[in-house]
Amino acid sequence: MDESGKAPWNGPLCAGRVAVVTGGGGAIGEAVGRALADHGADVVVADRAADRVEAACAAIEARGRRALGVTGDLTEAGAVEALIARANADFGRVDILVNALGEHLALSGPFERSSEEGWDRLYRVNLLQTMQACHAVLPGMRARRWGRIVNFSSVEGIRAMPNAAPYTAYKGAIDSFTKSLGVEVAGDGIRVNAVAVDKTRSHQVNFYRLGEEYDRHVPVWVPAGRYGEGDDIAAVVLFLSSEMGAWIVGQTIVADGGTSSAGGWYRTPSRWTNSPLLKQYFEEDPAINAARPKGVQ
Ligand SMILES: NC(=O)c1ccc[n+]([C@@H]2O[C@H](COP(=O)([O-])OP(=O)(O)OC[C@H]3O[C@@H](n4cnc5c(N)ncnc54)[C@H](O)[C@@H]3O)[C@@H](O)[C@H]2O)c1
Repeated sequence: MDESGKAPWNGPLCAGRVAVVTGGGGAIGEAVGRALADHGADVVVADRAADRVEAACAAIEARGRRALGVTGDLTEAGAVEALIARANADFGRVDILVNALGEHLALSGPFERSSEEGWDRLYRVNLLQTMQACHAVLPGMRARRWGRIVNFSSVEGIRAMPNAAPYTAYKGAIDSFTKSLGVEVAGDGIRVNAVAVDKTRSHQVNFYRLGEEYDRHVPVWVPAGRYGEGDDIAAVVLFLSSEMGAWIVGQTIVADGGTSSAGGWYRTPSRWTNSPLLKQYFEEDPAINAARPKGVQ
């Protein structure tokens, strides 16, 4: 409780704050923008998809908050610095930075067949732009002695993802970057944390386009019994972006419906097993798996 008797959980949680959300038109980024606006923040939405930027800004403005859309490729030289400069120029400062941009780029395959060009693209879209954005907002946050940064990791940065070693390397790097930077700036009222996501419906993971034959498997794959939605992740980001997260420093919060805790255990209709028989891969109908939409592992 502060001097006025207000506890951290008395909302609105982000009243008067200015937030920047990269990948802000994506499934998670858009939900984060709505959550922050619902709690009193003005939001800068940065994404390369113009239609998603427009929709995300409309949702923020519908909540009575100011929105600024910035459309462009954030992996281009100078783009992140220009974004933060624009946010500072138009909205006066950046209190909350949510680095929701990150992509696997569908670059999967045996490591020995990957290329340096591919590693570089994954580095730019997952790690480099996150570091650039933190670098650009920290001087202002330090001067005001308040700031919140939420980076985006993946359970794949914690466990393995075969055929995606470079992607997992950069997501794992987000976790260690978050830990060190979080400790480095904590004394100045700044909190840097991360969210590690799994099985959340979004544009890049394509769970929107899975056929009905997959439906009965979802409770087997995900202990919580369903796919995650953008709002599930936005709730965690909101918590970390407010006074509620004041005592959390450099942590990666896993938000995955239980997949990493399950660690290879599956709830089938008859029993829990850590040795599922994947019959369809061997004899039943291999075409079921071959027909998975692009991007779905
Ligand atoms: N959804 C999941 O299950 C899951 C799992 C692990 C990690 N994540 C992480 O969550 C974060 C949010 O992703 P999401 O799942 O909402 O995906 P999404 O595809 O819905 O959103 C990503 C957004 O980023 C934008 N974008 C892509 N490249 C860009 C670029 N170069 N410049 C500017 N904008 C660009 C896209 O247009 C899109 O709107 C990412 O960091 C992702 O790695 C998600």
